[in-house]
Amino acid sequence: MSVPSRRQVLFGGAALAVGAAAAETTRAVIDAPSPAADPAPAEGSSSTAAAGRTQAGVDRPVPPLAHLHLHALTAPASVRTREAIGALLAGLGERVLALVASAQAGPAGEAAGDLTIQVGIGSELLALAELADAPDVLLPQFRGSAALADDRRGGDLFLQVAAERPELVNGTVDALLAALPGFTPRWSQVGYRPLGDGAVTRNPFGYEDGIVQPTTDKGVPEHVWLTDGPLAGATVGVVRRFVLDTAAFHRLPAAEQDGVFGRERVSSVPLSGGAPRADVNLGAKSPSGAYLVPVDSHARAAHPSFVDVTVMLRRGYGFRETVDGAADRSGLLFISYQDDITVFTRTQQRMDRTDRLMELATPTAEAGFLVLPGFDRDRPLGSSLFG
Ligand code: HEM
Repeated sequence: MSVPSRRQVLFGGAALAVGAAAAETTRAVIDAPSPAADPAPAEGSSSTAAAGRTQAGVDRPVPPLAHLHLHALTAPASVRTREAIGALLAGLGERVLALVASAQAGPAGEAAGDLTIQVGIGSELLALAELADAPDVLLPQFRGSAALADDRRGGDLFLQVAAERPELVNGTVDALLAALPGFTPRWSQVGYRPLGDGAVTRNPFGYEDGIVQPTTDKGVPEHVWLTDGPLAGATVGVVRRFVLDTAAFHRLPAAEQDGVFGRERVSSVPLSGGAPRADVNLGAKSPSGAYLVPVDSHARAAHPSFVDVTVMLRRGYGFRETVDGAADRSGLLFISYQDDITVFTRTQQRMDRTDRLMELATPTAEAGFLVLPGFDRDRPLGSSLFG
């Protein structure tokens, strides 16, 4: 891929220095709601938070909602035809609109955007659409993938339900699953986002996460949405669930902890210096010639410039599970959206080679999927692919 990225612009110019303007554009997507993603309200519909050109739960709302359930399901044979999956998705979309509308009209009177329901499909269902230019949504094997059971990889249907109130998530998940007879659960995860600032939150290691996000063109994050034909308004989603060895991390001296990420924990100042949340300067060296952003740091390993990709939109959730008689398990449900799966795969492959963070992170489930284009009452969910 040779798409000019924010990073290439930075790298092509004044060496590795980071311009204030670039830092500003990075922050723009964090702070500003995306007008293009603003739902186009369906006539007479109160479920405007769900309807629109794109689905909710990708770049809107900002900040992302606090509680998330993600479910990866296997579809029964009975829906594995173009007609059957088309009808199923259309019905599911109706259910999504109704659930969001009823949350807004319910006793708690959720504000628009306080409940998001996002629907994605895996590669086998996508193939039923018989598109000439279907995007690849299958993940290759990464370090740790081989240890995963088959049903912890991939899936047919991906539901993400997020809300500010956990009980609303629970009720919504129950209602959706009840509408999917014959679908079998593969894996699922409950996650939370600590109170953050725009798209930035703190991950289970205590570091700010979500600082570097795609630049925007008139509020639309670049290289996230597919733009043409039946896939306009869709995006390629990736989820990887990592159990994180927080105990081992916290045993490291503080300076070494910062070195794992390439930023200071509290301030988020890059180890190369600058303002809090500024981009890292990968070329900066100490007087003795050592890179200030360590060679095995996450910021260096995940940097798009090395693998010539665009900036992915990251929207992860933390989790912590208690297990009777055993140590708690903390982790990150890493979720990203991009217009090409290689943005994720090339980054992950480089991280597998050089990132010290990967020694503290064990993948326990993973999948790539297509987030279907947005929908409303006149344009049912999935209709541009299966209609
Ligand atoms: C395993 C758990 C992970 C943790 C705890 C984690 C945490 C972080 C943190 C703290 C930052 C720096 C702040 C920021 O820019 O948001 C960051 C940056 C980043 N991460 Fe991760 N991350 C994880 C996994 C991943 C994965 C799996 C990918 C993609 C394959 C990824 C891609 C990125 C990218 C692209 C950046 C921005 C780098 C830059 O341009 O400066 N991360 N991550």
